[in-house]
Amino acid sequence: MSNKISQLVDTLLKKMTIKEKVGQMTQVTLDMVLKGNVYEPEKPFAFDEKKLAEVLLENHVGSILNVPTSEALTRQQWYYVVSTLQEKAMKGSRLGIPVLYGIDSIHGASYTKGTTFFPHQIGLAATWNPSIAKEQGAVTAYETRASSIPWVFAPVQDIARTPTWSRIYETFGEDPYLSGEMGKAMVNGFEGDDISRFDKVASCLKHFLGYGLPLSGKDRTPIWIPEHFLREYFLPSFQAAMDAGAKTIMINSGEINGVPVHANKEILTTLLRDELGFEGLAVTDWEDIKYLHTRHRVAATHKEAVRMAIDAGIDMSMVPDDLSFCKHLVELVNEGTITEERLDVSVRRILKLKYELGLFENPVLKEGATYDKFGSQEFLEKAKLAAVESITLLKNEDSNLPLSKDKKVLITGWVAESMPSLNGGWSYDWQGATSVEFAKDKINLRQAIENEIGKNNVIFSEGCQYDEIGNLEDATEKAAMVDHIILCLGENSYTEFMGNVNDLDLPRAQIKLAQAMIKTGKPITLILLEGRPRIISEFADDIESILLGYYPGQEGASSISDIIFGKINPSGKLPYTYPRFSNALMTYDHKHAESVELQGSEIPFNPQFEFGHGLSYTIFEYGSIMLEKDTMNDREDLNFSFSLKNTGSRTGKEVVQVYIGDDYASITPAVKRLRAFRKIELQAGEEQKIDFAIPMKQLSFVNVQNEWILEEGTFKLFVGNQMAEFELKND
Ligand code: BGC
Repeated sequence: MSNKISQLVDTLLKKMTIKEKVGQMTQVTLDMVLKGNVYEPEKPFAFDEKKLAEVLLENHVGSILNVPTSEALTRQQWYYVVSTLQEKAMKGSRLGIPVLYGIDSIHGASYTKGTTFFPHQIGLAATWNPSIAKEQGAVTAYETRASSIPWVFAPVQDIARTPTWSRIYETFGEDPYLSGEMGKAMVNGFEGDDISRFDKVASCLKHFLGYGLPLSGKDRTPIWIPEHFLREYFLPSFQAAMDAGAKTIMINSGEINGVPVHANKEILTTLLRDELGFEGLAVTDWEDIKYLHTRHRVAATHKEAVRMAIDAGIDMSMVPDDLSFCKHLVELVNEGTITEERLDVSVRRILKLKYELGLFENPVLKEGATYDKFGSQEFLEKAKLAAVESITLLKNEDSNLPLSKDKKVLITGWVAESMPSLNGGWSYDWQGATSVEFAKDKINLRQAIENEIGKNNVIFSEGCQYDEIGNLEDATEKAAMVDHIILCLGENSYTEFMGNVNDLDLPRAQIKLAQAMIKTGKPITLILLEGRPRIISEFADDIESILLGYYPGQEGASSISDIIFGKINPSGKLPYTYPRFSNALMTYDHKHAESVELQGSEIPFNPQFEFGHGLSYTIFEYGSIMLEKDTMNDREDLNFSFSLKNTGSRTGKEVVQVYIGDDYASITPAVKRLRAFRKIELQAGEEQKIDFAIPMKQLSFVNVQNEWILEEGTFKLFVGNQMAEFELKND
């Protein structure tokens, strides 16, 4: 903390009563100060003076979040919301402390009309391009701050280790290293060097720790992870983003090994504070203190839940819809159960952030900032670049793609007309359903293809809904009239537990449409827009080309069309393992035991598409790996190089992925782990020498004593289709 801010915080803290301190540690949803009921505010929304006074002046609540239910606001409306709150909190109160407004700007300023929607994080990860993540963070910061909001609940640093989980699309995928690199870049984009700037925000790493592996595959259900795996697989992505300076962190709603994380002092204090030295603000997730009582049942009363969470290390409670937290915490301090010094630790962090954000001087917008670039062409082009680099060509038999523009095509499948399937959740509203209404000026897949090749060349047949069979006869008849079928399938938008599924297969109605189209014998391009990898093995082998769009955002449709018709050469690579069967859900970095064929058993690791897979319209050839030395000690770097040549006929981008596998180790080694990557553009015929230097320390793993160790022995290095071996031997 700068000296000046530290002094300001101390001076303010000395003046504060217990009630005022507790208020700073409280966050409620905006509906709490609006007319009408919480979650059902009056429409159009309006402030309720009595509630404003109760929340901000009597209880001194220091932070507000969210948007009135299903009602994205304009920038002007946001200005009105935040300035009303600041006016009340700062002018009406004794100490004049500004409110800290927080929002889920997950892939753009989620709740502001006219914002620029980028791909969701899973698509961003598929770009394997940290500079795009930084740009996305920067534009999102700009448009969120332009909406008068200084704090975003992103990036999601959870590692998505089960493909059934409904929140995969919010993450950077299954690999800790990829997630760490992308998260670091995004934090830089959000925060820059100075979060008080007119175009920067404070970021919030979510959801600490271990959220991405619910045993049942459903959101917010119990997690079982031994501590050494928690440290090796789930911690590094947070650590990387913390090292990048992230100002805040949000806690995992789930329980790990029977202990809800919100009550876990080992994780929230011993690990987060004492060991990692994180000094930023730790906020709970939605209602999670109450859930210690009502859902997890480790606290017999709500008050006991408050005690547990504060004792564990929480700074701010996302309550979110009453003032009970304030009441209980004040009582706990007055009774002597919680010390006032404990409150000071948290309030210091909260006030510090408010000062760093410059909220005391500029509680709403920075003077003079006009935000002319909000929703601009410049930002749109950045969103387009992100979408373009994310889209992943999974299959392309006989160079089926790109299509020539004079082909007559049938577009079929409900996704072709779905805007929510482009934007996903956290778009205008929590579940993303209002994309239909608010993104009317944006184009869907059908429109993008029609724009590209002309309406005369396109025939449309809906074919099916998400899980409802449509008029297959119509689609089949129309298929007879065209050269090519573009089949658009996938998922609708959803968020959190609302996206839980019992079956990872694509719904039957969609499979039936695919099968009917295959029967026509026409070549097919399948476009998948989906938040997680829905299983397609019943028909994937009979489809010529498959393009995975994830949730690419508002520029997604034109990006996909540009790839189909060859304007753009695809370069996205899978950030997760695409499973072939619902009972074969393995990550790429599985253990050897998962790939050794046991007598008479089904083929082991055999996914539909591997992590890191993605095709291009050109061909990249890797030369042999040249190791500088083939024996190193643990203080050295693994230095190596190889040549990469574009032997095809067009410019393309290749993601060079470096994997290393430990041959033998005292904890069963993974077959391979991603240790480095780089995205490289090469012209047709161009060749480049690529160098890497990977510190040997990076090959460490966590033993059962929970220590990072590096054992001597032999390793394999994989790059493209090349392999080399080396040894670690200490002198
Ligand atoms: C989600 C968080 C989100 C928060 C605030 C919770 O339900 O788990 O990711 O930031 O709501 O909207």
